[in-house]
Amino acid sequence: MSKLYYPNKELAKKANIKSLEEYYALVDKASTDYEGYWKNFADKKIEWLKPYSKVLDESNKPFYKWFVDGKLNVSNQCIDRHLKDKSDQVAILFEGDRGDVQKITYQELSKNVNKFANLLKNEFNIKKGDRVVLYMPMIPEAAYAMLACARIGAIHSVVFGGFSAEALKDRIEDAGAKLVITADGAYRKGNPYLLKPVVDEATKSGCESLEAVLVVQRNNEDIDWKEKDHKYNELIANQSSECDFEVMDSEDPLFLLYTSGSTGKPKGVQHSTAGYILWAQMTMEWTFDLQEGDVFWCTADIGWITGHTYIVYGPLAAGGTTVMFEGVPTYPDAGRAWKMIEEHKISQFYTAPTAIRVLHKMGEDEPSKYDLSSLKVLGTVGEPIDPHAWEWYHQKVGGERCPIVDTWWQTETGGHMITPLPFATPIKPACATLPLPGINAEVIEKDGTPTPKGEKGYLCITKPWPSMIRTIWGDDERFKKAYFGDCVKDGEPVYFSGDGAMVGENDYITITGRVDDVINVSGHRLGTAELEAAIAEDEHIAEVAVIGTPHKLKGESIFVYAVTKDDANIEDIHKHINQILARDIGNIAKADDIVAVPGLPKTRSGKIMRRILRVLAKGEELTQDISTLEDPTIVEKIKEVLL
Ligand code: WT7
Repeated sequence: MSKLYYPNKELAKKANIKSLEEYYALVDKASTDYEGYWKNFADKKIEWLKPYSKVLDESNKPFYKWFVDGKLNVSNQCIDRHLKDKSDQVAILFEGDRGDVQKITYQELSKNVNKFANLLKNEFNIKKGDRVVLYMPMIPEAAYAMLACARIGAIHSVVFGGFSAEALKDRIEDAGAKLVITADGAYRKGNPYLLKPVVDEATKSGCESLEAVLVVQRNNEDIDWKEKDHKYNELIANQSSECDFEVMDSEDPLFLLYTSGSTGKPKGVQHSTAGYILWAQMTMEWTFDLQEGDVFWCTADIGWITGHTYIVYGPLAAGGTTVMFEGVPTYPDAGRAWKMIEEHKISQFYTAPTAIRVLHKMGEDEPSKYDLSSLKVLGTVGEPIDPHAWEWYHQKVGGERCPIVDTWWQTETGGHMITPLPFATPIKPACATLPLPGINAEVIEKDGTPTPKGEKGYLCITKPWPSMIRTIWGDDERFKKAYFGDCVKDGEPVYFSGDGAMVGENDYITITGRVDDVINVSGHRLGTAELEAAIAEDEHIAEVAVIGTPHKLKGESIFVYAVTKDDANIEDIHKHINQILARDIGNIAKADDIVAVPGLPKTRSGKIMRRILRVLAKGEELTQDISTLEDPTIVEKIKEVLL
């Protein structure tokens, strides 16, 4: 077994979870009395407006209900209840691309969110249950908008600012959104860029449900104002900073967040109110050991679940100080992130392996030019981290002093599932280690038998947990099939993550990556089905198969096998395909490689064997039986092309 890094004993004394014994005691409690275990935390952590009557309702599986009939409000949980003793503490520490800093206290946050909530109610008649799409840059108004929705019971759906007009339109329509909140633009790498034109393009036709577009003027750009558009900066001035919050049910949807699956169009993952906020707060306290005075920085975009749970909801529910950064860590130079850590005395830094690889490449010793002694815990998320990147992160950023929490979770899980606890779990590089107490993560075969140690199996969560996905917006059947359709345990369908994993020594779990047709590019999920549907729009393409192939910086990159109709130039097709992908999905979906092949390996029933294509793209030898292919000779033909 590779070397283990043991927690610092001194720091452990003050930690929220102090030892592996304490961890196992919690695990035990959860296994002997599951509902009692969760009740204890729900009672302690949540400010209930009305107590719940039952911890877990399993009468309509897999549509589990948590904290049945309980009433609460997430913006109260994140803001109001902290005003008593934290009104002057910084809630959001914003740093703009060009270095402009805003420190927003809980008191100010409260006022800003209340005004925003009043604006939504008074000007746009947004009510409980209405859907509001946010297409926003990383500015404080994005967080205000999310919390304002939560305050009045509207369901937000944040669409990542890198998604295209086409993708935005699909999401507005699928959610039946009444309002889109956007900004004229923002700044990246010293330059302004525009967001509003993308909204114009997305909403120029269709979007029947849409009544208005609210535009925050971040840049004061001279934009094209349309009939439906409203100016945030003017309207907000007239709003009162007092606003009562809506009394929400535990199971009322808090938000939707679209994510890719292995089939069809993106799914609107629906999260709940009570279960979600409970786990967001608890994992903040456990995984990052958030303490009074800490300054927490998660570098994700609010367009992803990581931004929801660990920039906005988790840190604020836990009463912390959360850093929000508009720019990129490589601008104006490779020291930007380290400079921010030094200046703001950041205690936890949470980022993606892809960012670590890029920063490492830009300068082995860059971090040592800065005082990073404020750092206490480092984290990674989104994809497996390679040992090389891990070592650098540990030595150069963490000064061999900071535990690294490699957190495995998903949009659907709401919060962390498998991760070391920084002052309790001995850390194995590049390993997610153990499930959090109360989370029943298991590596099993499809029939529920445990996969033998050291072998790859299916990573499942075999009991419901509070922050789990409730359904796919508008499609209960797809929800059942996508998550509870593959694996059973003791005859009951269980949640399957789509990932493979392996159990090793000490029961540590290592994630081996997706086993379904989902690609992970720089920590972003892209479904092969979506990509293929877009690419097939190119008139020269007869058939297409997309796979993910290992990439030094991005983790995986998009590799296209194309059967072309004519002898059109493959480079021209490549260019055109990337235009289509940028238009239909966004700039994150760029094909790095394309090869023209005479055919695709398919089973007799017509299913493309992407596994074979993955092996061939890597230039590895096929060990798999190919006799079941419709045309086994195709494999040799593809190999020739790849040579
Ligand atoms: C997929 C979820 C939830 C955070 C951001 C991504 C992969 C996530 C890890 C990790 C290895 C990881 C999995 C997972 N993933 N964290 N620590 N080690 N792989 O959210 O877009 O829902 O993607 O990201 O494949 O299924 P997401």
